[in-house]
Amino acid sequence: MTKAAMQTDTETETAEPRFSLENIHISDADVPPFIDMPFEDIEELKLDHPGASDAAYRERRDYIAGLSKRFRETGVITDVDYTEEEQGIWRHVAARLEELHEKYASPSYLKAKRDLGISNDRIPQLSDMSRRLKELTNFRLAPIEGLVDTRAFLSWLSWRTMLSTQYIRHHSRPEYTPEPDIVHESIGHIPMFTNQNFADYSQFIGHGARIATDEQIEELGRLYWFTVEFGLVEHEGEIKAYGAGLLSSFGELEHAFSDKVERRPFDLEEVINTSYDYSDMQPLLYVIPSYAELKEVTREYISRFKG
Ligand SMILES: [Fe+2]
Repeated sequence: MTKAAMQTDTETETAEPRFSLENIHISDADVPPFIDMPFEDIEELKLDHPGASDAAYRERRDYIAGLSKRFRETGVITDVDYTEEEQGIWRHVAARLEELHEKYASPSYLKAKRDLGISNDRIPQLSDMSRRLKELTNFRLAPIEGLVDTRAFLSWLSWRTMLSTQYIRHHSRPEYTPEPDIVHESIGHIPMFTNQNFADYSQFIGHGARIATDEQIEELGRLYWFTVEFGLVEHEGEIKAYGAGLLSSFGELEHAFSDKVERRPFDLEEVINTSYDYSDMQPLLYVIPSYAELKEVTREYISRFKG
């Protein structure tokens, strides 16, 4: 469906509902033109970023952010010619995280990384991962130059599209970044979109975001936080990690399995009403029984939105 067709649909009573939770197929023609991305106030590098006072880093980050921004005009992902220093940061972080993944990550995630061809040697390009995701689960990646507000970010999931940054964290603190970067996106988020149920679940959140009240957006933000960012899943009697905030952070991943964390069975009503503090280690995490069940319970929840 094109954007023009969507506008027509809303004016006719006989048209199909705009946000059918059954109709999860999205063709390229359904995706709105990226030039229409209504983004304002995209976050720039903050003063507490480890690279904030490094002029060369700031210039490089802004250059790569500019490549990401170009996507909105061209619709084509520009590959980044990462420097050897940047590749070094990736190699260091990716190798260390992989050791932890073997112990703690969901088998779905481990398989996904292989399916996407993500290696510890070279920073993966969004263009390659997006092409592969499209073949596997019809998901797509769209470069973005920084954090956008929750509704805008989540809404794009409705078109099975994840907005993703391309720059990399500062070399002085390879284990840490206060903003999303290519490590967080491609080690944390992107692999899970190869899982059909997880991809569909993400799309349901996107549908919800497009019709949510402001209060429901807050709820969706919490649901996203406790699943996509910090989710745990049961697998053959064991608890494993699938959240991007866990899988892309040495500290959070080990902490998640320590006795400092309370791990509760996932309860949607509880999760959407539980606040969190993004600036500290997470003291409370939720364990889903499976991605299929997460998807179904979310389908039921979103279907209650009025639109
Ligand atoms: Fe994230």
